Amino acid sequence: MHFSSTLNRFGDEVFAALNERRIALEKEGRTFYNLSIGTPDFVPSKRVRTALAEAAQDPENWKYALRDTDEMLQAVCRYYEKRFSVSITPDMIASCYGSQEGIGHLGMTLCDPGDVVLLPSPCYPVFIAGAKMAGAQIHYYPLSPEKHFLPDLDAIPADVARAARYMIVSLPSNPTGSVGDDATYEGLIAFAKKYDILLVHDNAYSDIIYDGIEGGSFLHYEGARDVGVEFFSLSKSFNLTGARISFLIGRPDVVAAFRKLRSQIDFGMFLPLQKVAIAALETDRAEVQAQCAAYQARRDALCDGLTGIGWPVRRNQGSMFVWAKIPVAGMSSMDFCLALMDRAGVICTPGASFGPAGEGYVRFALVLPPDRIQEAVEQIRKSGILA
Ligand SMILES: Cc1ncc(COP(=O)(O)O)c(C=O)c1O
Repeated sequence: MHFSSTLNRFGDEVFAALNERRIALEKEGRTFYNLSIGTPDFVPSKRVRTALAEAAQDPENWKYALRDTDEMLQAVCRYYEKRFSVSITPDMIASCYGSQEGIGHLGMTLCDPGDVVLLPSPCYPVFIAGAKMAGAQIHYYPLSPEKHFLPDLDAIPADVARAARYMIVSLPSNPTGSVGDDATYEGLIAFAKKYDILLVHDNAYSDIIYDGIEGGSFLHYEGARDVGVEFFSLSKSFNLTGARISFLIGRPDVVAAFRKLRSQIDFGMFLPLQKVAIAALETDRAEVQAQCAAYQARRDALCDGLTGIGWPVRRNQGSMFVWAKIPVAGMSSMDFCLALMDRAGVICTPGASFGPAGEGYVRFALVLPPDRIQEAVEQIRKSGILA
């Protein structure tokens, strides 16, 4: 059987070993603290669930949608105005099945094979997959602890910047938990203008941001709408990960091109899900803020807990992830994760899954309540793995 050469651009599932080991240990009846999955344990609101159930009763809603309804597009416009003070119009919005799918198709919208794209390292894996599917050449720009895990534009050679088609920036960052400030975004916009690069802001965690920092939209910054677009996912703010709802928002020419590509393979978002999106976007902000406070308590329990037992971990400022340097010299992130699972029953994700700069780190997801996180920390202490 012949398979496409595109497939050869993707590595083997090296992390299958972690899963296999977990399944084997579960069969032995071991208890686990699973801090590896990036899907919230919080639930979607009753309003959202009701919207889905009601919309599903109408047989008309089971037909091909073919388009984003005006009702949904207006709800997105209202949300951007109210939440981010950003005025947008329907021609600046295209729905997609999660930012994952959207980013997966973005490379094919913007690049020819061999074109250069700029990606953060470490980064969320679909940034890499989307560029590879387009046959693009990836240049990683560093997110390093010395620069607070923020884009280091000086590290990008001018000839690479000149050749780049698009650059993905995602703050608050998965996996590093870093958050950009005004200077970060202003610097990025100036850089994109100077080198004529399309800036793609992946905004998945605007509502999971701590210590009083206000999450926002990149499109709020002056000049942003000339040089960029933003993926705005409903997955994490409203606990809708399985529903697959996100929007590409910004420059109408980019949005139109993205729609054109997707319309070749897609008949539009299931109409009941469009109703779900509207209901979610109308959620009372206080609910979202209460959830953010709950994440912050988890963040404190994990970062302070680990630091307290001799594993210094800085408090992340945003996202539902904690990025921790491996406390044992000479161990790969994969081996450390296997050891942590075996010895402490705590499951986290090897840093190597987030691109070349991820090695040497592990990522914890804040998907258990603080008391369970404290128990996990205690298991790590008792395991002696830090000794
Ligand atoms: C940075 C980042 N971008 C995109 C996604 C995917 O989001 P969606 O559920 O909208 O596909 C995630 C999910 O964890 C993420 O962390």
